[in-house]
Amino acid sequence: MSAPGRRQIDVVFSADEIARRVEEIAADIARREGRELFVIVVLKGSFVFAADLIRALDRAGVEARVDFITLSSYGKESASSGEVRLARDVSDDVRGRSVMIVDDILDTGRTLRFARDLMIDRGAATVRTCVLLDKPSNRVVDIAADHVGFTVGNQFVVGYGLDLGHLYRGLSYIGVLRQP
Ligand code: IMP
Ligand code: MG
Repeated sequence: MSAPGRRQIDVVFSADEIARRVEEIAADIARREGRELFVIVVLKGSFVFAADLIRALDRAGVEARVDFITLSSYGKESASSGEVRLARDVSDDVRGRSVMIVDDILDTGRTLRFARDLMIDRGAATVRTCVLLDKPSNRVVDIAADHVGFTVGNQFVVGYGLDLGHLYRGLSYIGVLRQP
């Protein structure tokens, strides 16, 4: 199992910075997108961000229907396997709906492209994307998100839903692990 004690973490985005940015993203979505959205949360990493975002969207006057999809491209280590797998599907029909896909971080781009193409194939009226973090330096697939919280460099970040081997998701901030 994991080593005793917690590794030290340097804060990249504080809880306050994240909270402010989430309100801004929601206001931007309310301005640029429809007032009725079918929000599809990509599990697992984005559940914390999505929980805050849907409440901010409600405050901003957006009526969100929320569903979840589980996609996996990572094993327990921090390197991408390159393959995206649909582990659990949404339970509702997306046909004719204004879909907003919500993910934690846009890294190689494979996950978001997989999710977006799936919803387009299924006949969604529009498919927009929102990510808390964008790591453009690591992109393999040509895709950009419509709404981005913060841009990060080529570093592995944890916290606020983001994990390393399912650890650190509960941090209220986003940070980087110090080398042990
Ligand atoms: P992509 O398919 O390579 O864009 O990977 C997206 C997924 O990889 C995200 O939803 C995360 O779950 C995971 N991921 C990518 N970079 C990081 C990171 O820095 N920290 C934690 N998870 C990451
Ligand atoms: Mg993820």
